[in-house]
Amino acid sequence: MIGIFDSGIGGLTVARAIMDRLPGYDIVYFGDTAHTPYGNKSVHTVINYAVADTKFLIDHGATIIVVACNTASSVAARVLSEKFKEPVLEVITPAVDAAITSTKKGAIGVIGTRATISSGIYERKIMEKRPGTRVYQEPCPLLVPLVEEGWLKRPETNMIVKKYLLPLKTRQIDTLILGCTHYPVLKRIIAKKAGKNVAVVDSSIEMAKHVKQAVDSSADIAKRLTKTGSIEFYVSDMTLRFEKTARMIIGKSIRLTEVRG
Ligand code: DGL
Repeated sequence: MIGIFDSGIGGLTVARAIMDRLPGYDIVYFGDTAHTPYGNKSVHTVINYAVADTKFLIDHGATIIVVACNTASSVAARVLSEKFKEPVLEVITPAVDAAITSTKKGAIGVIGTRATISSGIYERKIMEKRPGTRVYQEPCPLLVPLVEEGWLKRPETNMIVKKYLLPLKTRQIDTLILGCTHYPVLKRIIAKKAGKNVAVVDSSIEMAKHVKQAVDSSADIAKRLTKTGSIEFYVSDMTLRFEKTARMIIGKSIRLTEVRG
C-alpha cells in the first residue's frame, strides 16, 4: 500500500496526482492536522512529527512512504530513510530534477514555507546536480493560510503573490519550483504573476511521476504494492474547514477519518 503523509490537508495535491497516475493502487493518507502547520516549526519538532506520521502509516499497512510535505521532506527525509526499512520517497528531488531539465538560462526560483527555504535543501540539491545554477529562494508564509481560507480568486491573493514573486522576477528566473503542497492550488495565479517566460514546476505532479517511475522500474517497489482500489484518508484532528479544503483540493467530497494521536 502507498502511504502518503503531510502536515495536514495540503498533501492531498500529491495524493490526487498519484491517484491520477496510478489508478487502482491502494493508498493510505495521513494528514497531521492536529499539528499543522509544520512550515514554521523547528527542525527537531518536524522530525518528531514525521517519524510519528510514518509509524502511523506503516501500522495502517503502508509498504512505501511518500513524504508529500515539502517541509518534512526538507528536514526529515534522511532520518526516515535511516529509521524505517520501507522505501521513503521525498518530494524535493523530483522537483529539482524537473527544474534542472527545464531551465535554459540556469536561473531557478524556489518558493516554499519558511522551514523549507531556510533548510536550503533545494539550493543544495540543485547545485549538486547543476553547479553554477543561480538559485533564488523566497519564503511565502501567507500562501498556505490563503489557500486554506479558500481565497483563491481574491485581489488580495493576487497582490500577495505578486509581491512574493517580485524579487524572483527581478532576477530573471526562467523556472520556478512550487516547493509546498498548497501552492499547486494557486498555480494559475502564480504562473500569471511569474510571467509567460517562466516554467512552473509543480512538486505534486513531479512527485506523482516519480512514484509511477519507481513502481515501473523497481521490482521491489512494485511487489510491495497492492491494487484493489482502496483509499483511506486519516487526519489527527477534524474541523469543518479541513473538510472544505479537502473537497477543494480533491475536487469532490472525501471521507476523512479522525484518529487521535
Ligand atoms: N505541507 C507543508 C509543505 O509542503 C505546508 C503546510 C505546513 O506548513 O505545514 O511545506
